[in-house]
Amino acid sequence: MEKRLKATLELLRELGFEEFYSSLDVPSSNFPTEGNNYPKQSSKEQPTSPLEDKSKNKLFLLKELYEKNKNCCKCELCKSRSQIVFFDGNPNSKVMFVGEAPGEEEDKQGKPFVGRAGQYLNKVLEKIGLNRNSIYITNVCKCRPPGNRKPTPKEMQTCLNVFLKKEVEIVQPKVICCLGATAAEAFLGKNVKITRMRGQFYPNPLFPKTKLFLTYHPAYILRNMREAKTFEADLKKLKEYLNTLEIN
Ligand code: URA
Repeated sequence: MEKRLKATLELLRELGFEEFYSSLDVPSSNFPTEGNNYPKQSSKEQPTSPLEDKSKNKLFLLKELYEKNKNCCKCELCKSRSQIVFFDGNPNSKVMFVGEAPGEEEDKQGKPFVGRAGQYLNKVLEKIGLNRNSIYITNVCKCRPPGNRKPTPKEMQTCLNVFLKKEVEIVQPKVICCLGATAAEAFLGKNVKITRMRGQFYPNPLFPKTKLFLTYHPAYILRNMREAKTFEADLKKLKEYLNTLEIN
């Protein structure tokens, strides 16, 4: 199917439909592909067109969003980044994890949460029975701030408008899990005391159909291991909620 689609698109390109071709064919190494972490469908369920398959449709729209904004320079962060770090995981997931901004390793690899904090998060997810490839994971800001400083409110707002709001519209998660205060502040629009507000679900003022769940950032836990059990308990609570969605 993919081969036939590519051949058709090549033909369209030769006929002068450049834009249509380029929005589908995204050869970027940092865009998740079906070959690595994108869940495959059984051959019985193979759709006949990408637009018939909800999950492929979401991937298609995300690719368009990425293509349109991969050279974004609407804030200062574009000057110091190596590349835009978009998302990882499954665009058809019911849960979207949102962190602050890429760190050094993420900036190098072009994937969110692949450094120490990400590896620790993967371990906790595995422990509670949530596969990293089954979740959608991203950041408020898609570019690494110099020296890993906290992004400014203006940088957060700009990136929210360019990427994150559109990602939520495309993915339509049932829950957004904010990893740390910065992500929570991006959605709630106010300062958040994460120690006080973590472990609970909240209405989402930006997206009323999606609940917010707040917990610590995994990098904070690496610096404060005494909170590791609390972090695990929070993620277990989230997993139990996701299980109720599977049944309904
Ligand atoms: N911290 C974040 O907030 N995001 C990443 O992708 C990595 C570390």
